[in-house]
Amino acid sequence: MDNRLTVNYNNKPCYDIVFTTDFSALKDEILNLGFEHRKTAIITDTNVEKLYANEVLNALNDDFDTVVTYAIPAGEEHKNLDEIRKIYDFLMERHFDRHDLLLALGGGVVGDMCGFVAATYLRGVSFIQIPTTLLSQTDSSVGGKTGVDLGGVKNMVGAFYMPRLVYMNVSTLNSLDDRQYASGFAEVMKYGLIKDESFYTWLIDNMYEISDKDPEVVLEMVKHSCDIKRAVVEKDPTEKGDRMLLNFGHTLGHAIEKHKNFEMLHGECVALGSIAAAFISWKRGLLSMEEYYEIRDMFVPFNLPISVEDIDKEAVLDITRSDKKADSDKIKFILLKKIGKAFVDDSVTRQEMDKALDEIIYIETND
Ligand code: GLY
Repeated sequence: MDNRLTVNYNNKPCYDIVFTTDFSALKDEILNLGFEHRKTAIITDTNVEKLYANEVLNALNDDFDTVVTYAIPAGEEHKNLDEIRKIYDFLMERHFDRHDLLLALGGGVVGDMCGFVAATYLRGVSFIQIPTTLLSQTDSSVGGKTGVDLGGVKNMVGAFYMPRLVYMNVSTLNSLDDRQYASGFAEVMKYGLIKDESFYTWLIDNMYEISDKDPEVVLEMVKHSCDIKRAVVEKDPTEKGDRMLLNFGHTLGHAIEKHKNFEMLHGECVALGSIAAAFISWKRGLLSMEEYYEIRDMFVPFNLPISVEDIDKEAVLDITRSDKKADSDKIKFILLKKIGKAFVDDSVTRQEMDKALDEIIYIETND
């Protein structure tokens, strides 16, 4: 694969994903899209602003008439409509019009929020994703999901709205702390498990290079993850079928995340949810015991949790029922037919989930 992928939407080329190791090509990529002499707003958060806003500003230099920066306070708790309104005000005060451009510089929260502003400001302006975390590079920046949380429900309000470009500078991953990096890895594992057994094997073979952030291996991992995501969203852009498979590990994962008041990172909860889903797949005779334990143990070198404390099982199971992915009271659970092949199943019982939770709940013993 070369350093560029094109993502189709409605069977037509829609946007490119560019894989790089710096910001030097960003200016030309934007100019090639025809944004010369347009206003540009870098939408970022207060953490990423300190790290990369100046670098991006310098990369754009004098070729743009107006480049302004807006930083959302960092953290999922700010992913709400009040903050969106502040961004609208910022753009209105600076007279941004429908032909101007937004750049989403940051992780998944920034990408989802900037994308939502782009989808709705003046009924739609162009935006470019510049993801800086492993989770946003391998998952959230591709596929056009945008939105904010509302009433304690993640991504309750949003829109499918495609970026004009996804510009990945994978060297930004070097500034991620180990916990954030590991959290992104849980989503990478997901791709191997649901779609690509040979990628899963490659991840096992390169586990130590990945955890040491070997630049070539990381670039390959990000590109391959994006290619899998590309194929999924091209086939099912609005999550009516195959895209649901990307929710592997998310039914119980989201419920644990919410039950823990978002104190654990998303990928940490997805790791736990993936173990639970693999456990159910094993108990249904779809995976062997060895495969189940191999999947579980893959999270260990990344210090991702394989068990969790202080969980009220009944409360977690109740949350799965109120999850917005539950459809007419039936939970659409993602199971593995085998490694590399997932399917949607709406027959997973509360009892099966209960047993899977027993498997991941840490109980202190005296021996
Ligand atoms: N993160 C899952 C999706 O984009 O559908």
